[in-house]
Amino acid sequence: MMQTKELQQKILRLKKEKDFCILAHTYQSHEILEIADFTGDSFALSRKATGVSEKNILMCGVRFMAETVKLLSPDKRVVIASGDAGCPMAEQFTRAEVEAWRKEHPEGIVVAYVNTTTDLKRACDYCVTSASAVKIVSRLPDDREILFIPDKNLGSYVAKKLPTKKLVFWNGGCPIHNSITLKELQTAKEQHPEALVLTHPECASEVVSASDFIGSTTEIMDYAAKSEASSFIIGTENNIVTHLQYELPEKQFYPLSKRLICADMRLTSLPDVLSALEGTGGLEIELDGDTLREARVCIDRMIEMG
Ligand code: 13P
Ligand code: SF4
Repeated sequence: MMQTKELQQKILRLKKEKDFCILAHTYQSHEILEIADFTGDSFALSRKATGVSEKNILMCGVRFMAETVKLLSPDKRVVIASGDAGCPMAEQFTRAEVEAWRKEHPEGIVVAYVNTTTDLKRACDYCVTSASAVKIVSRLPDDREILFIPDKNLGSYVAKKLPTKKLVFWNGGCPIHNSITLKELQTAKEQHPEALVLTHPECASEVVSASDFIGSTTEIMDYAAKSEASSFIIGTENNIVTHLQYELPEKQFYPLSKRLICADMRLTSLPDVLSALEGTGGLEIELDGDTLREARVCIDRMIEMG
């Protein structure tokens, strides 16, 4: 079996030869972040997708992220390293359900978290990420109902920050972040009383309310780097704990819960990246013309306003 370094060198060589840019979400493993051209949260990856010079883009992350890249760069060949990597939250509601709500609320505005299918995005007005949701919703009118889907936890967080908005939620959310309890947070605090608690807004509102900082994955990492504090309890995917401990060895990082593991995000391995570049693995993202045109509208607004 090829060693990690050997695999990485092969990937770096092939990526150049085949004119690929590799984008990796921060939830990916350390060895994948090392070979990526760009790493970041969902918003940073979307921004980056608009300005890639290579002809081909390889996404190490989950499917909605690769599809967002395709919407923003329709002329590029976009490949996801692991075709089976989805996001369970993205599948929770359908375009038909959104269209039915629109019929009943003709004045309503639909805001979709980027963690949704491309088909659902066709029926939405605005798309947001965890890093841009408050900013984008703050610009929407106060006097119209705003359906915020699928994540009711992120929606509640936005509603708390923007009390004048008429936000409506459905019962969706991330099964991993939403399963974390206040009791777990209190236990982690008892074990590390000096540590600050940094959580993702996909966590339940009682967990978010008991945190010292709430932000997207990149915002959590930036906060920990800039903070004068020296220890932190991290309430998001545990690969972020590993990355932070590696990047900031002088500080201490503890997982809020051992259960904060996204199986989909962890599906991608270095051999998957290699076979995607070799053309024997991975999955090319293909979207038809109508889908590209219609779903792009809310994604373009996200980039403009975020
Ligand atoms: P970010 O917006 O921080 O990238 O989060 C995406 C995600 O899927 C979190 O679970
Ligand atoms: Fe989806 Fe949750 Fe995994 Fe993020 S952590 S990709 S929201 S399942």
